[in-house]
Amino acid sequence: MKTFKGLATLAAVFFAGSVYAAGPNAQMSQVLDGLKKEAGAASFSAEEGRKLYNAKRTHSQKKEERSCTTCHTSNPAASGKSTAGKVIEPLSPSANPQRFTDPKKVEKWFKRNCEWVYERECTPKEKGDFITYMMSLK
Ligand code: HEC
Repeated sequence: MKTFKGLATLAAVFFAGSVYAAGPNAQMSQVLDGLKKEAGAASFSAEEGRKLYNAKRTHSQKKEERSCTTCHTSNPAASGKSTAGKVIEPLSPSANPQRFTDPKKVEKWFKRNCEWVYERECTPKEKGDFITYMMSLK
């Protein structure tokens, strides 16, 4: 009986793994649906998300140029580096299936990083566009 339970758990883990690998999964869709409601938008734009990702802005106090690419690099499928030099796993779900599946984590980092780059929070529309762009990458 114990063995059976163990096997069933193992099978469930494998199954979850294969769902992740298939791309946009249930959790990601849920995160996006939540943002759609917040934004009052019917759909999001990968092109707008691409612009948001690559936009460069000079910080009003620090006078340095900042962008999402500063830490995440110009290639979202590549590993990046934090300001403290810590490795950041790729942002695009094709390279990192864990991305955009945990609403709390998504919110926490959008808030922190949008403030770091843009000195304001990103809007629900911008967040949706950003995730849609990331999901469009193969
Ligand atoms: C100063 C460095 C830095 C910059 C600039 C930066 N990020 Fe990040 N970002 C991080 C770190 C560190 C993490 C958390 C570590 C991780 O998840 O691997 C992270 C994680 C995230 C996540 C969490 C994704 C998930 O579900 O796991 C999102 C969303 C995100 N960043 C969006 C952005 C956006 C949008 C911008 C540009 C406005 C941006 N980041 C710019 C450092 C940065």
